[in-house]
Amino acid sequence: MHEIIETLSGDRQQHIDRLVEWLRIPSISTDRQRKGDVRRAGEWIMGELATSGFDARLDETEGHPVCFASWTQAVGAPTVLIYGHYDVQPPEPLELWRHGAFEPTIEGDDLIARGATDDKGQVLALVRGVCGVLKHRGSLPVNIKFLIEGEEEIGSPNLASYIKAHSKELTADVAVISDCSQFAPGIPAITVALKGLVYLEVFVQGPNRDLHSGSFGGAVENPANALTRILGSLRDEEGRITIPGFYDDVRDLTPEEREDFASLPFDEEAFRTDLDVPQVHGEAGWTTLERKGARPTLDINGLLSGWTGEGAKTVLPAHASAKLSMRLVPDQDPRVIETLVSDHLRSLCPPSCTIEVSVHHGAEPVLVERNSHWLEAAAVAVEKGFGKTPVFIREGGSIPVVSDLKKILGIDTILLGLGLPDDNAHSPNEKFHLPDYQRGIETAAWFLDEIST
Ligand code: BES
Ligand code: ZN
Repeated sequence: MHEIIETLSGDRQQHIDRLVEWLRIPSISTDRQRKGDVRRAGEWIMGELATSGFDARLDETEGHPVCFASWTQAVGAPTVLIYGHYDVQPPEPLELWRHGAFEPTIEGDDLIARGATDDKGQVLALVRGVCGVLKHRGSLPVNIKFLIEGEEEIGSPNLASYIKAHSKELTADVAVISDCSQFAPGIPAITVALKGLVYLEVFVQGPNRDLHSGSFGGAVENPANALTRILGSLRDEEGRITIPGFYDDVRDLTPEEREDFASLPFDEEAFRTDLDVPQVHGEAGWTTLERKGARPTLDINGLLSGWTGEGAKTVLPAHASAKLSMRLVPDQDPRVIETLVSDHLRSLCPPSCTIEVSVHHGAEPVLVERNSHWLEAAAVAVEKGFGKTPVFIREGGSIPVVSDLKKILGIDTILLGLGLPDDNAHSPNEKFHLPDYQRGIETAAWFLDEIST
């Protein structure tokens, strides 16, 4: 192992160069005009795996293609399915980036680009670690399959049917995903819970055209007023969501789970000052870490109506719309919540307007099985790769594939976060801390060693 780690360490610059090349491809899955670029990013990672000795191919779906690659010559040894995504979020607002979002730039120890941490950097760390072992030894101690998709950031709409159709080929003993983060700089973590998601769009229609706000104001319902009244009523003063039934299936945290949260070395003041907010905020009765990791939330993600250009325009808008996300926790079911919330929104629409609610995407909440030798092996690997014992954390983000892997293939997932909480995922100046990239590469090699012995 020590020779392998030395080789991986010696290849440091090459690891960075490969990542930079991949990050140059603007694989924005939401953007129809980037379809070709998304495919190119899939072809790129397929090429990487193929030249490293994997059987690799790009499979078509109804949407963006899936890269599948395997090396299965370790007869009798376990099989690990490594999942990642090569698509990225849109880079806007562009003016806030210090460099082009797709012109990867190194500042100190950070590599800055859209996708640096989410997820190209993290998934490439696993790829480089595994391929480094294969190159060095000429074989792997376990069987490895890669499933790297191009639609995670749009809710993985075609992945469940892909997994069903290829369930034989995808058979594995456990899955590993690096698409989340460490607890803090110097405190690596293994994620043991993810939130689920329901994403809705609400559209309120008022008059059939924009109107003069003096001539018509007060006589015709303003859909922006109506929509903000509706949205404002969805949470009470205590930060609790007011939708009837919303909390019915929320599993209470056990006293031990609350102790786990309390024992983490969380610096709330640093969290607050980093965000420049006068106070932290959230549902009464819970700590910041509990709110972030284990309580359901409802947030406006986008709000659109009326005149938003420069200066004043006295106008009563014809319509108003909002995009809402609800992050869910065990045992909330996204399908149940989706219906509950849509019905509630419709019931709140005043008779002077009409309302439409549409559903974008969803994901199920995840709780990782804590008593597993895979999790133990991962903790040892992180300890060796990062030189520190990992803590176990619960994250607020969602990764739709995890519940599909459990339901369709029957396997658990190990969530090995290599990023940092301030990596600016989905924000301007997204970054990946290069020493963590290297540690992630070495952790992947240690993990293979750990589960093969
Ligand atoms: N990498 C994130 C998921 C994540 C974020 C895990 C933070 C842990 C902490 C992933 O790429 C992502 O952003 N997922 C989407 C899923 C959605 C589009 C269905 C999310 O959480 O918004
Ligand atoms: Zn991601």
